[in-house]
Amino acid sequence: MPEVLKIKNLHQTFERGTVNENRVLRGIDLNLEAGDFVTIIGSNGAGKSTLLNSIAGTLPIQEGQIILNDTDITKLPVTKRAKNISRVFQDPKMGTAVRLTVEENLALAMKRGQRRGFRPGVKKQDRKFFKKQLAQLNLNLENRLETEIGLLSGGQRQAITLLMATLQRPDLILLDEHTAALDPQTSITVMQLTEKLISEQHLTAFMVTHNMEDAIRYGNRLIMLHQGRVAIDLAGEDKQNLTVPKLMELFQKHVGAGLEDDAILLA
Ligand SMILES: Nc1ncnc2c1ncn2[C@@H]1O[C@H](COP(=O)(O)OP(=O)(O)O)[C@@H](O)[C@H]1O
Ligand SMILES: [Mg+2]
Repeated sequence: MPEVLKIKNLHQTFERGTVNENRVLRGIDLNLEAGDFVTIIGSNGAGKSTLLNSIAGTLPIQEGQIILNDTDITKLPVTKRAKNISRVFQDPKMGTAVRLTVEENLALAMKRGQRRGFRPGVKKQDRKFFKKQLAQLNLNLENRLETEIGLLSGGQRQAITLLMATLQRPDLILLDEHTAALDPQTSITVMQLTEKLISEQHLTAFMVTHNMEDAIRYGNRLIMLHQGRVAIDLAGEDKQNLTVPKLMELFQKHVGAGLEDDAILLA
């Protein structure tokens, strides 16, 4: 399998040189192969979002290197990475333009990483394509193309955000606790959709979650960040055979301290 992403010796320190110096990432080395769906856990403040921000380019890299499909993107600005890397955040409001309609949002997504105006025109053939894409969400959104997106529920918006993030196949998709703000039932729906889109398009993905069961259930590889480093990294059968108690036991073994279940579940 070709490698899609290489992270080499990534360090990120906030407020360097002050009493509040915070060494959040202390040498992360990770290689992702094409089609890897990696779930990331770690307690609150472990650096999960910092890792994704570093990859997406919203946070400048202080030390280390990031290579996407053999291109060194360490110094590439976020706008230049957007064509190849898409993101979904926890807040459903972050991913969509509230005053635009469903179809206008989708039209914007078709232009990810390109110059785009504020209110895009929607062509007839696009509309047909959007309808088909929305229909596969099974949320009846194919009949709401002209609805302002701000009128939809958080779950509906998050489903559309996911669709937007994958409408133009990204090399890498970054999901940062994208179901954490949803009610449990909606969260399941959005997770199932996530898995469907990732597997159908054979996407390479990072998914941060505070839900250990989701981290175990989804994806082919699981990573736990602890004190700025990768503390646990399991793939294949090791990952498939994982349970929450086994994961806690592993953490204890690797780190030499007990893992408060709450530290992750309530993060
Ligand atoms: N832009 C920033 N400036 C200063 N400190 C930050 C910034 N981003 C994150 N941090 C700090 O870095 C630590 C890790 O944050 P984060 O990566 O958001 O953790 P997680 O997503 O694992 O909960 C936290 O202590 C947070 O306060
Ligand atoms: Mg976070």
